[in-house]
Amino acid sequence: MQNANSVTDRTIGAIVAGDYRTAAVFEKHGIDFCCGGKIALSAVCQAKGIDPGTITREIEAAKSTPVDRSQNYTAWTLSFLADYIINTHHSYLKENTGQIAAYAHKIAEVHGARHPEVVEIAAIFDEIATDMAAHLREEEEVFFPAVKRVEATQKAGTAPEAKDIETIKRSLEKLSHEHDEIGDAAHKIRHLAQGYAIPDDVCNTFMVTYQKLNEFEDDLHKHVHLENNILFQKAAQS
Ligand SMILES: [Fe+2]
Ligand SMILES: [Fe+2]
Repeated sequence: MQNANSVTDRTIGAIVAGDYRTAAVFEKHGIDFCCGGKIALSAVCQAKGIDPGTITREIEAAKSTPVDRSQNYTAWTLSFLADYIINTHHSYLKENTGQIAAYAHKIAEVHGARHPEVVEIAAIFDEIATDMAAHLREEEEVFFPAVKRVEATQKAGTAPEAKDIETIKRSLEKLSHEHDEIGDAAHKIRHLAQGYAIPDDVCNTFMVTYQKLNEFEDDLHKHVHLENNILFQKAAQS
């Protein structure tokens, strides 16, 4: 099985970056393809007790589903991809983070005595919200503009500014590290929330908060995947 071996040797991030349709397979198996995407598929299979042959067949099947050309992120220019990330994922965060934090505090107040995990969840989410605001600012005001300027010089056939190359190098390291930290915090919330299972004795706000936290994590995975596995990889080559 030469083919199966070559797929399992690749990292999760590289497989999803190569074909976004494979993300559905990893989601199904609860495998992190963004923040934890630097691990080889074979290692993940071993850790999670998944048969490599089965998942390889599922990946091949995902690759043969019809392509949605509008989601062919690897073919996009970095400037277009950066704008897409801002217009979808950054605007999602700006619209929802404050509201989710307010909900989390409300359920901590009402249900904290019977469900102490929600008090911890509210505190962790506050940290995520603060870190994320600074992270988005750095991407929008420093990193993405430098990436766009370098791409424009490449297109024009001129040399990029040394300070832009330096900015990209510095930001890449810092932003990747922040992705890991924010991803870890989101995993911690999922763990505390026991996978967002809704307890029997709670109100609608509790239910909505868990649904919103779940949606937040889902959006974060897609967002960080586009940055870590596509945008950052290409920007590192500039
Ligand atoms: Fe971002
Ligand atoms: Fe980011």
